[in-house]
Amino acid sequence: MKARIQSLVESALADLRQQGVLPADLQRPVHVERTRDRSHGDFATNIVMMLAKPAGLKPRELADKLVQALPQDSAVTKVEIAGPGFINFFQADSFLSDQLGAALADDHLGVTPASPAQTIVVDYSSPNLAKEMHVGHLRSTIIGDAVVRALGFLGHRVIRQNHVGDWGTQFGMLLAYLEEQPDGDASDELADLENFYRAAKQRFDESATFADRARALVVQLQSGDSHCLALWKRFNSISLDHCFAVYERLGVSLTRDDVRGESAYNNELADIVAVLADKGMLTESDGARCVFLDQFRNKQGDPLPVIVQKADGGYLYATTDLAALRYRAGTLAADRILYFVDQRQALHFDQVFSVARQAGFVGEAVDLAHMGFGTMNGPDGKPFKTRSGGTVKLVELLDEAEQKALQLVSAKNPDLSQQELAQIARTVGIASVKYADLSKHRSSDYIFDLERMLSFEGNTAPYLLYAYTRVASVFRKAGLDPQTLDAPLRLQEDQEQALGNHLSQFAETLALVADKGEPHLLCTYLYELAGLFSSFYEHCPILSAQDDDTRDSRLQLAWLTARTLKQGLALLGIETLERM
Ligand code: ARG
Repeated sequence: MKARIQSLVESALADLRQQGVLPADLQRPVHVERTRDRSHGDFATNIVMMLAKPAGLKPRELADKLVQALPQDSAVTKVEIAGPGFINFFQADSFLSDQLGAALADDHLGVTPASPAQTIVVDYSSPNLAKEMHVGHLRSTIIGDAVVRALGFLGHRVIRQNHVGDWGTQFGMLLAYLEEQPDGDASDELADLENFYRAAKQRFDESATFADRARALVVQLQSGDSHCLALWKRFNSISLDHCFAVYERLGVSLTRDDVRGESAYNNELADIVAVLADKGMLTESDGARCVFLDQFRNKQGDPLPVIVQKADGGYLYATTDLAALRYRAGTLAADRILYFVDQRQALHFDQVFSVARQAGFVGEAVDLAHMGFGTMNGPDGKPFKTRSGGTVKLVELLDEAEQKALQLVSAKNPDLSQQELAQIARTVGIASVKYADLSKHRSSDYIFDLERMLSFEGNTAPYLLYAYTRVASVFRKAGLDPQTLDAPLRLQEDQEQALGNHLSQFAETLALVADKGEPHLLCTYLYELAGLFSSFYEHCPILSAQDDDTRDSRLQLAWLTARTLKQGLALLGIETLERM
C-alpha cells in the first residue's frame, strides 16, 4: 500500500511539473509512512514540506494543488491535508480485507518476491577454531541467521559464509600438542577444546623445545607439508564438529558447505599485496607494508595504517579480509555483502572496505555493510564471565537455560509426561536465549538475564510461544480444519481492524529487517501482533459469534495470525509448539 500511495503522489507531482506549478528540475524523493494514530488516516507523506520552500509556494497552496492532482484509486477512501504540510491517506476497508484474503490464500503469506532479487553474501558466526565457541559468538550466529532467513524468504539469493579462524600462529602450538598425544589419537583430549588449548599453551610457555617445535610446525604448515596439513585438518574437523553441535542445538541453518575459513584465501594473499603495490597504494613502515588512507587518522591527526604484510613476511587479518572481499564481489558476484561481526571491529571493516574499493577489488555498485553488534553482559554490566572470571562456554549457557525452562514448564503442566516436558523445555529454553538476544537493538549491549528471558510476560519467547498455542487452541477446541475456511473477511470491530491492519504489515516489516539487518524489528512486530490478537480475542467472540459469517471471518483472522506468528518466529530461527 505504501508503494501504491507513493506512485499516486509521484504521478500528481509529474502533473504539477507539467502544469508549471513546480519547476521541472525540482525533484525530491517521496516518503510515505504509516501513521501512529489511525484516526487521522493510515498513511502520510511530508513531500509538501520538502517542496514548498524551494518552489516558492505556500505549503497550504501546494498541498491543495497536489491533492487536486492525485489520481483516483479505489484503495484510498479519503485524503486530508494536516498541519502545515502533511497529506494523510485513509485506506479502504475493502482493500485491507482483500489484501488479507490474498495473504490467507498464499503459502508465502502475500509476501511477494523482491524485485530485482539480489545475490547477497552474509558473513556470520565465523568463530576461531583454535578455541571453543563462547558467548561472544552467540550474537553473530543468531542475528546473522535470522537476517539470512528473512533475505531468503524475500526471494534473494543468499550465500552464507562462515569465515572461521582456521589459520595463524596459534595453530603451531596446537599441532605440536596434538602430535605429542599417544598414537596420535587425541579425541578424548579434544573433547574439551578449551582444556586442550590451555594445556597446549602451558606446554608452550614451559618448554623451549616444545615452543621451537610449535614454530617449526607453523612454517611447515605454511609451506604445505603433508604431515602438518593432515594434523591441521584433523584438528579443524574436530573443532568444527564442536561448532556444528552448537548450531544444531540452536537451530542455526549453517552447513559444512558454508564454511570458507581464513585458510581458503592463503594462496591469494601474496597477490593481494602485489596488486596494492602495483596500484601504488603501499608504504613501507619499519619493514611492514601498509596502506595509509587519508580518512583514517588517530586522535592526534596522524594517519592510521592498514598493515597488510609484516616485516617477517607474514600476512594479517586485514589481508585475508581483502582477499575475501575480492572473492565475494568477483567470483560470487555479490550485489551486497553483509558482515555480522562485533561492533569493536568497526574500524577494521571501515578500513578494509575503503582499501578494497580503492584497489578495485569491489566495484562501486556493490553494497558493503558491517552490521555490528554490542556485547552480551553479565548481571554486573560487564562482558559475560564465569564466577572465576573465565569465558562462558555457549553450551553451558544453553544447558542452564533448558534446565530453568524445565522447572517452569513442569510447574505449569503437572499432567504431561517427562518426555513431553523435556521436549517442550528444550524448545522454550533455546527460544528464550535466542529471542532475548534478537529482540534487543543490534547495536546496543544487553544484560543476560535468564529469569527475565524465561518470563511469560513482556516481549519474551515464552509469551510469544504461548500466544501461538492460544491461537492454535481455537481450532483444536472447535475441532476445525482452518484450511477449509474461505469466508470473506469482514473487519467490523475496532479490534478486528487493528489486528487486520497489523497483519497487513508483515511484508514491509520483513523488508525493513532485510534492509537494515535488524531482526528486533520483526520481534517488535510479532510482540505487537500477539498483543492485538489478545484484545481481539477478548472483545470479539469467535465460536459464539452472532452469525456464521462473522464466526468464519474471525476464524480466518485467527488463522492468519497463527500462520504469521509461526512464520515470523521461524524466520527468527525459533520453533513453535502446539501446546506448552
Ligand atoms: N574470527 C573472527 C573473530 O572471532 C571473526 C571473523 C569475522 N569475519 C570476517 N570476515 N572478518 O573475531
